Amino acid sequence: MPAALETQVGIVGAGPAGLLLAHLLHLNGIDSVIVERRDRDYVIDRVRAGVLEQGTVDLLMAMGVGEGVRSRGLRHDGLYVSFKGQRHRVDLADLTGGKAITVYGQNEVVRDLIDARLETGRPLYFEADRVAVDGLDSDRPVIRFDHDGQDHELRCGFIAGCDGFRGICRPSIPAAALNVYERTYPFGWLGILAEAAPACEELVYTLHDRGFALFSMRSPTVTRLYFQVPPDESIDKWSDDAIWAEMLTRMTTRDGWAPNVGRIIQKGVTPMRSFVAAPMRHGRLFLAGDAAHIVPPTGAKGLNLAASDVLVLARAFKGFYKCGRTDWLDEYSAVCERRVWKAQRFSWWMTSSMHRFPDETAFDRQRQIADLDYLTSSRAAMTSLAEQYVGLPAEVSFESAGLPQ
Ligand code: FAD
Ligand code: DHB
Repeated sequence: MPAALETQVGIVGAGPAGLLLAHLLHLNGIDSVIVERRDRDYVIDRVRAGVLEQGTVDLLMAMGVGEGVRSRGLRHDGLYVSFKGQRHRVDLADLTGGKAITVYGQNEVVRDLIDARLETGRPLYFEADRVAVDGLDSDRPVIRFDHDGQDHELRCGFIAGCDGFRGICRPSIPAAALNVYERTYPFGWLGILAEAAPACEELVYTLHDRGFALFSMRSPTVTRLYFQVPPDESIDKWSDDAIWAEMLTRMTTRDGWAPNVGRIIQKGVTPMRSFVAAPMRHGRLFLAGDAAHIVPPTGAKGLNLAASDVLVLARAFKGFYKCGRTDWLDEYSAVCERRVWKAQRFSWWMTSSMHRFPDETAFDRQRQIADLDYLTSSRAAMTSLAEQYVGLPAEVSFESAGLPQ
C-alpha cells in the first residue's frame, strides 16, 4: 500500500522555481509538498546562472530570504560590450533610473531557499524516485513517487510542474494540448569557474572573429568565463591551457585588458536553445520555469523568468485559496507568456548579435559590427538594452501575491 499524503499544492522539482513558489505559498499560509529527484548537495552544487535582475533581488528581499544576496551579492551598475578589441560601457543604472543587476550564483539562491524551506518545517523530499503525475483533469490530481523504498501517493489541490526542461510534468500533458515553439543554435558555451580575482568589476560580453566570449564572476576571488564552441563539443577536447589560450585570444582588448588566469575548478559545455510550450497550464497542472521555456543564456534570463512565473502562480493560488477566485488561475499562462516572449526575443537578439554563425557571410559580419557600434553609441539603443537586461517591470504586483510592497 502506498503511503497516502495530502496537500494544497504539490510541487515537482526543487530548483529555483519550485523553491521560490513553495516559500511564497508558505508566506500566504498555503501548504505544499516538494518532491525532488536529486539529493540536496547535487541540487545546490549544479553550476548554472549567476545574474539576478533587479526585480528578482527585490522579490527575494520582499520574501525575507534576501540576506545572502544582500550581503554577498555583487551589485553591478553597468556592463561592457566589447568588439574590434575595444570595451564600451553601458551604464545600466543611469539608463534605467537607478536599477542594476546583481551577480549571485544560482547555487547560493538555491542554498538560501532550501535553508528557508527546512526552517518552515514543511515537507521537501529529496531523492524521490519514479516521480509521476496523474489525474490532471480531475479536481484531485496526484503525484506518485518512491522515497526510501516506500511508495507514496500525494493527493493535491493543484500540481506545480517546476521540474525543469527534462522533467516529467510537461510530457504528461497530451501533445495535442500544447503548442511548442523551438529554435536550436549552431553553437554551445564552454564555461569555467577559475580561482582568479575578477579583472573587471562588471561583465564583459565580447564579439571576436573567433566567436563569442563572456567575462563574469562569482565572488571577489572567483572568475566565471564562457566562450562559444560547436554545439556537440566534448569538454575532454579542451585542456586547461587550451581553454586559457582561447579565452585570452578572444577577450584581450587593445588597451591590454584581459581576465586574470587561475586554477580551473569547474568546466562544462552547455547547448543553446530557445523553447516555449504553451499554454503553461493543463487542468490542475501548472508549469513554471524551465519546464515551460528555455532561453539561450546570453541575456541571463533563465533563472529570472522562473522567478517571474512563480510570482504570477503564487498570486493565482493565493486568489483561489484565500478569496475563492479562479480568474487568476485562468489568466496565469497568458500573463506569463507575455513576459516569456519578450525575454525570448531579447535573448535571441543578444545571441544573434554576438555569436559567429557557421553559414554567415561577410555582409552578415559587417552588419553585426554595425549593430554593436550603433548599440554602444546611441543612448536610445543602450536604454533599450539596459531596461531589458535589468528586467522589465513585474507582470503582477508583489502585494497581489501576498507580499509587502
Ligand atoms: P531547474 O533549475 O532545472 O530545476 C528543476 C528541478 O527539478 C531540478 O532540481 C531537477 O533535479 C528536478 N527534477 C527534474 N526532473 C524531476 C522529476 N522527474 N521528479 C522530481 N524532480 C525533478 N541561465 C542563465 O541565466 N545563465 C546561465 O549561465 C545558465 N546556465 C545554465 C547551464 C545549464 C547546464 C542549465 C541546464 C541551465 C542554465 N541556465 C542558465 C538556465 C537556468 O539555470 C534555469 O533557467 C533555471 O535553473 C530554471 O529554474 P527551474 O527551477 O525552472 O529549473
Ligand atoms: C552569467 C551567465 C550568463 O548567461 C550571462 O548572460 C551572464 C553571466 C554568469 O554565469 O555569470
